[in-house]
Amino acid sequence: MALYSEQVMDHFRNPRNLGAIEDADAIGEVGNATCGDIMRIYLKINDEVITDIKFETFGCGSAIASSSMATELIKGKTISEALALTNKAVTEALGGLPAHKIHCSVLAEEAIQAAIEDYRKRQESKN
Ligand code: FES
Repeated sequence: MALYSEQVMDHFRNPRNLGAIEDADAIGEVGNATCGDIMRIYLKINDEVITDIKFETFGCGSAIASSSMATELIKGKTISEALALTNKAVTEALGGLPAHKIHCSVLAEEAIQAAIEDYRKRQESKN
């Protein structure tokens, strides 16, 4: 059996929502200290809905595929729906990841949470 699913290879080769958002409403950046990979998520939010999302991932193929899939899963969703996204859901949508690559999907979950935390902080500082 191939180590990586077709979905992983597809999202790695043709990442969705790749890039930065210049006037983002929130940015979340996380890294994994062991492998050194870094993931950054940019959000545009209107009325609690994620209207646009982009990512930059400096890391392995599984991290790129995980960020691509995660952004697809929460685009157009509310903030609370995005917060409920787990790395397990990302992994399942990708058709699975090898055990030693599960932490790559955790990075996607954490980056989204960090971006939403940044959004909340920015909102508080406006009030
Ligand atoms: Fe660390 Fe993929 S090897 S994020």
